[in-house]
Amino acid sequence: MNDVMMQLSEAVSYIKSKTNATPKVGIVLGSGLGNLSQVIEVETEIEYGKIPHFPVSTVKGHGGKLFFGKLNGTHVLCMSGRFHFYEGYSAQQVIFPVRVMKMLGIETLLLSNAAGSVNPNYKVGDLMILNDHISFFTTNPLIGKNVEELGTRFPDMSEPYSKALIAKALEIGKANNIHLHEGVYTAVTGPTFETHAEYRLIKTIGSDVVGMSTVQECIAAVHCGMKVFAVSVVTDIGIREDDNVITHEEVLEAAKEAEPKLTLLFSELAKVIA
Ligand code: HPA
Repeated sequence: MNDVMMQLSEAVSYIKSKTNATPKVGIVLGSGLGNLSQVIEVETEIEYGKIPHFPVSTVKGHGGKLFFGKLNGTHVLCMSGRFHFYEGYSAQQVIFPVRVMKMLGIETLLLSNAAGSVNPNYKVGDLMILNDHISFFTTNPLIGKNVEELGTRFPDMSEPYSKALIAKALEIGKANNIHLHEGVYTAVTGPTFETHAEYRLIKTIGSDVVGMSTVQECIAAVHCGMKVFAVSVVTDIGIREDDNVITHEEVLEAAKEAEPKLTLLFSELAKVIA
């Protein structure tokens, strides 16, 4: 067995020693969006620090636990707190939990994130469903020896985000009066927010929002055959007047305000998937 598979099986064995749950839906909560885990009827919670080879989250606004439980009646596995490349983890460490989820039987991954908008039609607090992404400003997490047990060397990325799940989410949005944009997310490493010129560039290449997460997880999930659905909460406006400064606190505050919409969307979506 190669090192990655060995580490994965040790992590999975530990988790399986704590729970018999077999959810099919996995959820990753973004910055300031951890409260969704409060809505879950938790059956088992496991601290990241206890799981062999699991990285530990270091950022304010991120928890550090795996929750097994029911969200609106559906069994889910929820990661409250994710790992970012800017924290100093390797891209392979960032995606380790996604691979653990796969090996635990998760088939569909719901991702959320906080993002800055470069689309003039978006406002702070809006939700945007990702229908595509641009990953060129980050490290591809599949660089290195391919883990054949998980997937192919050259994965197709023509549908990184499931069109069927997007269609379902749009129906849920309509039925619940939640306005949902659809657009392109560009991933950057952070931790700096972008300069004016960078936001302009990101807009010019065809993005609607920019953020520091999600895309590496999506790539890893697609590689191992999972379906992915992702939503950005717009927490700041990148293309803005000259003296507009962006802070992490402002991002967390905006995320918190938009969170009830995201919670509703994810819980309704989990119900129709499972
Ligand atoms: N840029 C990058 N990442 C972000 C932003 C942003 O403006 N807002 C929240 N995450």
